[in-house]
Amino acid sequence: MNSIRIRFSLMLVGSVLCVVILASAVMSQMILGLVEKDFRDGLTSRVAAFSNSITFRGNDAVFHLQPAPIEGKLLEAPTKLLQEAFQKSQANFDIFVKQTPDGQRWASIKMGPGWLSWPIREHAPPPEVWWGLAGWMVLITVGVIGVALTVAHQTTNQLKLLQSMAMSVGKDGVLPVLKEEGSIEIKATAQALNMMGASLKKAMDSKIRLVAAAGHDLRTPMTRMRLRAEFLNEREREEWLHDLDEMDHIADSAIQLVREETVGKGTEHVRLDELVGDVCAELALIKMRVTIAGLDHSSVKISPLALKRALRNLIINAATHGGGAIVSLRVHDRRAVVLIDDNGPGIPEQFLASAFEPFFRADPARRQSIPGAGLGLAIAKEIVERQGGTLEIENRQPHGLRQTLSIEIDIANVSSVAA
Ligand SMILES: Nc1ncnc2c1ncn2[C@@H]1O[C@H](COP(=O)(O)OP(=O)(O)OP(=O)(O)O)[C@@H](O)[C@H]1O
Ligand SMILES: [Mg+2]
Repeated sequence: MNSIRIRFSLMLVGSVLCVVILASAVMSQMILGLVEKDFRDGLTSRVAAFSNSITFRGNDAVFHLQPAPIEGKLLEAPTKLLQEAFQKSQANFDIFVKQTPDGQRWASIKMGPGWLSWPIREHAPPPEVWWGLAGWMVLITVGVIGVALTVAHQTTNQLKLLQSMAMSVGKDGVLPVLKEEGSIEIKATAQALNMMGASLKKAMDSKIRLVAAAGHDLRTPMTRMRLRAEFLNEREREEWLHDLDEMDHIADSAIQLVREETVGKGTEHVRLDELVGDVCAELALIKMRVTIAGLDHSSVKISPLALKRALRNLIINAATHGGGAIVSLRVHDRRAVVLIDDNGPGIPEQFLASAFEPFFRADPARRQSIPGAGLGLAIAKEIVERQGGTLEIENRQPHGLRQTLSIEIDIANVSSVAA
């Protein structure tokens, strides 16, 4: 009984049966009324007609036949019908159906020397029958439409449930574990989705492990190549070591893209202004040009390790590609907005959209002076979006780039921050 299929079937069959029974009950009441009327009116008119043709003598009745059939317009169809009926029953009577000027139909039949006439009804059903039939059809149609609309509503309700399930897929692509309750079908769907989510997570984890392992394994042959480079002449050795440095950087970034740092160990309440300050101080220590232009107090619920990595990538970009980073943090409209500005060349407008793609490098000519894998922005965007934030870049006027990281502030901790 807890199955949607059984519930729908019972509801459908029950509703259609109710509609048909109700409509047929109304129709049969109407037919009964008509039959009763026919029985009553037919009998009284016939008795009245016969009583005019009979006289009584003591206990005997004398029947007066008319010399001719009744006067009126001959009705061919009913006449033919009755003649054929008499012929079939071997009764050889002359019979005519006529209509008198007052609209009454009469049957006149020849009996011996005279004619006997009596009133008859039309042999077509009265108009009430057609009205009744139309009413019956309207009732059935309205009833079935009502049932269909109810069933459609119930069905789409179930689809809404699936839609909300699909909407609850996390930003990281991981399906949340669904409650396995409700009707049999919903339970089965939730179970199937939970199984799918588990297999997807397993597949994603193994892919992550594979990429990390590949990056890691690259290190051994690269160390061997570094050793072999020692046997080359000085000019060649420098070129080899430069290329190997770049490969090292790419391998590192590939590993970090999938490491725990990116995924995050879990979220916690963090003072964002302190975290931004720490990253700036850490980069200033390694002689990067970083200026802080004001940090509003704010608390966010994030994975601090992952967000630090994202901020580091963005500030390094401004310091290296942009020649110096100006970092500020403002709280606006329940969001903490970190702006990382620089006065460098910016990124050509036509490339802005692809800057977040892995291995994107705006200016291949700069490749030599500023080494990089082209993964920093891709990693930062991945981290920020996984934490529920947004990351955007735009060119500044007259030149430079603005990187905007925005994340919802932790309302629960606002009062403690203010205090
Ligand atoms: N502030 C900036 N000003 C100008 N160009 C920038 C800036 N930030 C990024 N870019 C351009 O976007 C490209 C991609 O940046 P991204 O951080 O992804 O890679 P990268 O800095 O080259 O290498 P890495 O993986 O080491 O970060 C850069 O190569 C650079 O051409
Ligand atoms: Mg970078």
